Amino acid sequence: MNKITKTLTCLLAASGLATVAVADQDATLTINGELTIATTVAAPADSPLDELFSGWVFRSGETQALQMDDFDNPSFIFVDQAIEQFAKVEGTEGESCASCHTDVAEFKGLRTTLPRHNASTGKLDTMATLINDCRTNRMGAEPWKYSKGKMTAMKALIGLQSRGMPMNVAVDGAAAEHFELGKEIYYTRVGQLDMSCANCHEDNYDTMIRADHLSQGQINGFPTYRLKNAKLNSIQGRFKGCMKNIRATPYKEGSKEFTALELYVASRGNGLPVETPSVRN
Ligand code: HEC
Ligand code: HEC
Repeated sequence: MNKITKTLTCLLAASGLATVAVADQDATLTINGELTIATTVAAPADSPLDELFSGWVFRSGETQALQMDDFDNPSFIFVDQAIEQFAKVEGTEGESCASCHTDVAEFKGLRTTLPRHNASTGKLDTMATLINDCRTNRMGAEPWKYSKGKMTAMKALIGLQSRGMPMNVAVDGAAAEHFELGKEIYYTRVGQLDMSCANCHEDNYDTMIRADHLSQGQINGFPTYRLKNAKLNSIQGRFKGCMKNIRATPYKEGSKEFTALELYVASRGNGLPVETPSVRN
């Protein structure tokens, strides 16, 4: 933990302002007693941040603990559903995911590279577009909605295969224009509260906002199980929630804007290990 963090925590505690138990920021994230995942890493060279912190660092001890054992982590109910879904035949072609992808472990590493530019469409692929591409074009099945249960569960199962591997999205070449758009959105003040993502997640992380301990808004843990709504939450669903909180009109899930923002935010976390599926409040 850096000095500023410590000082701030002490100041808040001394002044009696820290009404909520402040998380143990020195805690180590070890999952199932065997996989230790770094939650604080050095920022990439061109980063506006000094250090990168996983959102896990800012949660209470109880919430942190839920992510330390897959039996306690409620996300795994949905991961189990996705395992069944993976083997389920659907659509006009009579195929299941498993007909072509024999072992879900073949997706190891994929989560760390997304979103990524697709040369044939000129757009960014996300986990959702890749899954739906197989459903519609290869299975002859209905696409799943961006943030609905079956989609977030499948994303969690595929993302889990990369757990512990550092995020590593590419922002150069053809991805650059999407990166620039995402960056512009990140720093633009919007809504009745006239705030940008950066105002909270860059300028004020590690402070309390109402009863919530502000993080850097990293996405290495998504989909994330939230205690608040008892389900898996998608990245862009979270973006939507943050925009609504500042009384701005959110972009649509799956839109060019939100997908560019997803790439930009992912790049701010390059180097942070994947925690999918994480637990947050
Ligand atoms: C008829 C065969 C087929 C079926 C059925 C199928 N896929 Fe695919 N899938 C492919 C092929 C071919 C590719 C592209 C080559 C590759 O990257 O493996 C692909 C690519 C993907 C990718 C991107 C992999 C990467 O590294 O870029 C994901 C994720 C994926 N499929 C998930 C699924 C899921 C989830 C299902 C079930 C809902 C499914 N697929 C069903 C054949 C299939
Ligand atoms: C008014 C302050 C505020 C603004 C502005 C804001 N957020 Fe948030 N955001 C929060 C709070 C509070 C949380 C919950 C605590 C936390 O994880 O930081 C949160 C959580 C998140 C998370 C979840 C982090 C995790 O580890 O689970 C992401 C991602 C995120 N915000 C992204 C964004 C993006 C992108 C924008 C701009 C579109 C944005 N936020 C704007 C306050 C804000």
